[in-house]
Amino acid sequence: MDYPKTLQAIPPDLVCLDDYEQFAAQQIPSPYFEYIHSGVADERLLHRNRDSFSQLDILPRLLRDFHDANSATSLFDQILSAPILLAPVAHQRLVHPDGELATARGAAAVDVPMVVSTLASQRLEDIARAGAPGNWFQLYLQARREDSLSLLRRAEDAGYRAIVVTLDTPVNGLRNRSQRAGFALPPEVSEVNLANVAPPPGRQLHPGQSIVLNGIMADAPDWETLHWLRQQCSLPLLVKGVMHPDDARELQAAGIDGLVISNHGGRSLDAAPTPLSMLPAIRGAVGNDYPLLMDGGIRRGSDVFKALALGANAVMIGRPQVYALATAGALGVAHMLKLLIDELHITMALAGCPRLDTIQRHCLHTPRPLL
Ligand code: FNR
Ligand code: LAC
Repeated sequence: MDYPKTLQAIPPDLVCLDDYEQFAAQQIPSPYFEYIHSGVADERLLHRNRDSFSQLDILPRLLRDFHDANSATSLFDQILSAPILLAPVAHQRLVHPDGELATARGAAAVDVPMVVSTLASQRLEDIARAGAPGNWFQLYLQARREDSLSLLRRAEDAGYRAIVVTLDTPVNGLRNRSQRAGFALPPEVSEVNLANVAPPPGRQLHPGQSIVLNGIMADAPDWETLHWLRQQCSLPLLVKGVMHPDDARELQAAGIDGLVISNHGGRSLDAAPTPLSMLPAIRGAVGNDYPLLMDGGIRRGSDVFKALALGANAVMIGRPQVYALATAGALGVAHMLKLLIDELHITMALAGCPRLDTIQRHCLHTPRPLL
């Protein structure tokens, strides 16, 4: 495979996450870039995820006391120096020969947990060894329970600290841009952790039945499967892809330890709302003490701040990790995260918030028409 040339030093003009995206767009072969970058259908949500942050302002505050200031938080007894994790992103060897191993090294260098995808292109045990001890594992439930259980046990044995089960893509949305670009995984990049997983049993569809509704969805997880997983899982268990306050409430009641509010980075249902817009209602549904993460469109430290002000405990970063990986491997990932954390610290300083618990809704302002 032809990989982008991995830089040994960061070009001085890469100073924010969007710079990484623009740089990587020139380096990554077009069909792979389109796969990573694209959203579903008309990409309405891909853009709205980002625009939702622009609709809020942060109020600058003066003369606050910053003794004992820090951006630390604790999630499931794990101390994070900043409320940021790497979201699970599949197939990272598309852009770098070491793939997820390099991402794990970069995240470890800046003390940011990485959530490793079921669809990673490196073995989950190898990624665990390459990274810091605090990483999490993202589980896609498989058609057969024994296959899901085997992945879960491997993740537990490898030392992952939490399991994030993603439920928002029982069927993949059609990413038209990726389709037009003719994206397909090359033979060198595969979902190595699923090597021993049997494909779902073929189903005989009757005339008039839908391949989605009667085929793919027949093997999709349901509440019963989730209850079973809860019983099997000895680690903190989070659900990713929650967008409805009623689902949030039911998941909390089912013993799920935390949620990730997410629309899969605008890759699942294009008509869905933005995570930021659903955050206040979901926080209201689950109460103040329940761990809520969110992702989708976060590219600035001020975006992290806004998500926290609306009730998130932490956020996850998706595509920029791949752009940084393509640009400069582990060094790029570490630098990209450092840029984001520095921006968050500057935002906290200018908003008069010395600690994360001081970032509240009253720190935000919604612009109104001037006349
Ligand atoms: C993803 N995402 C994802 N989510 C998941 O739970 N398991 C996975 O394997 C993947 N794979 C994946 C691949 C690619 C190329 C992308 C872009 C995204 C979704 C991801 O975890 C996250 O929800 C979004 O990427 C967040 O949006 P931003 O930060 O990319 O805007
Ligand atoms: C994606 C799948 C892998 O978003 O979750 O591409």
